[in-house]
Amino acid sequence: MIPILQLDTQYSEIQEELESAVLSALRSTAYINGPEVKDFEAEFAEWHGVDGAVGVGSGTEALHLAVRALDLGPEDEVISPAFTFIASAGAIALAGAKPAFCDIEPCLFNIDVEDLRKRINKNTKAIVVVHLFGHPAPMDEILEIAKEHNLVVIEDCAQATGAEYKGRKVGTMGDYGCFSFFPSKNLGGIGDGGMVLAKKPEDLEKIRILKSHGSKVKYYHDMLGTNSRLDTVQAAALRVKLKHLAKWNEQRRRVAARYIENLNGHIQVPGEAKDCKHVFHQFTTRVPNRDEFKKLLEEQGVGSMIYYPVSLHQQGAFKHLGYADDDFPVTRKAQEEVLSLPMFPELTNEQVDEISNKVKSILAQSATVTA
Ligand SMILES: Cc1ncc(COP(=O)(O)O)c(C=O)c1O
Repeated sequence: MIPILQLDTQYSEIQEELESAVLSALRSTAYINGPEVKDFEAEFAEWHGVDGAVGVGSGTEALHLAVRALDLGPEDEVISPAFTFIASAGAIALAGAKPAFCDIEPCLFNIDVEDLRKRINKNTKAIVVVHLFGHPAPMDEILEIAKEHNLVVIEDCAQATGAEYKGRKVGTMGDYGCFSFFPSKNLGGIGDGGMVLAKKPEDLEKIRILKSHGSKVKYYHDMLGTNSRLDTVQAAALRVKLKHLAKWNEQRRRVAARYIENLNGHIQVPGEAKDCKHVFHQFTTRVPNRDEFKKLLEEQGVGSMIYYPVSLHQQGAFKHLGYADDDFPVTRKAQEEVLSLPMFPELTNEQVDEISNKVKSILAQSATVTA
């Protein structure tokens, strides 16, 4: 079986440095706000070419705190794409504002800027821009729309650490950049973790206060905050892994290039927009008879996943927003057709060829599965 994701090869590659860093953090007993947290924040900021970064408990918390920092009320709307992971919009609702959705474009699965324009109204205050599957969203157009309407831009970079748009890393273009270190991510930790970048130092400082119980000085609470920390052991592991991230992203690009060479013309493969650097968190194809195709692939020993089978406007959690099923036609079609194939940096050329040959033979032999 070739699984959709396998972490053990990577673990073996860095086992010595990882275990030594984690053991040293463990032995230090400085489990909360130990020196590794500050060091990792500084290194993550430097890697992105920005002045500062704030470590938090998860990618969800990074987004939640960024929306919280805007001090929005229940009438204020924040737009996110309908086709993304729940956290992109869940964060909006959890922070007390109203999520609103927009459609995506069909090739790269990111925000459709024309639809975004149509969804803006007098209550719209911000946009959560998701760089889905590792491909940057069209930031120039989005930033222009935001400027025109005076909207805050929060980048959800959970799936795209290291992706670039016109030479700029994702997370450094909007007002806030929110990252996840969930273990399967391009920069994956050994548990949960997240990071926030912000364009203005005062916005970053507000995130730091909000994630520390609203407190700048211990036991003095100027605002209501929460407890959302990146823990020391996590930071120690992530410091080791950050050093390998550029190489791992290049390896993902190598895997994707080989898939594309093998499968182009047989199945719809992911694209890459001009001046963008895709970091292939996922390698997401589209197949009209997707469920049958997935089953046949599984029978041939190839793992795959559907990201995402139900778009956000159809989720039970957002039913009260009153959207109709067909409000976002491109999203709706995508959720019926997307299938992500195995993708991780350590996939060998032989494995990619084996998967590709199986895909091609299913497409050639099945009476019901067509590309
Ligand atoms: C697009 C997107 N946003 C946010 C998150 C939330 O990150 P976390 O799992 O670290 O809370 C994820 C992670 O799955 C994600 O894929």
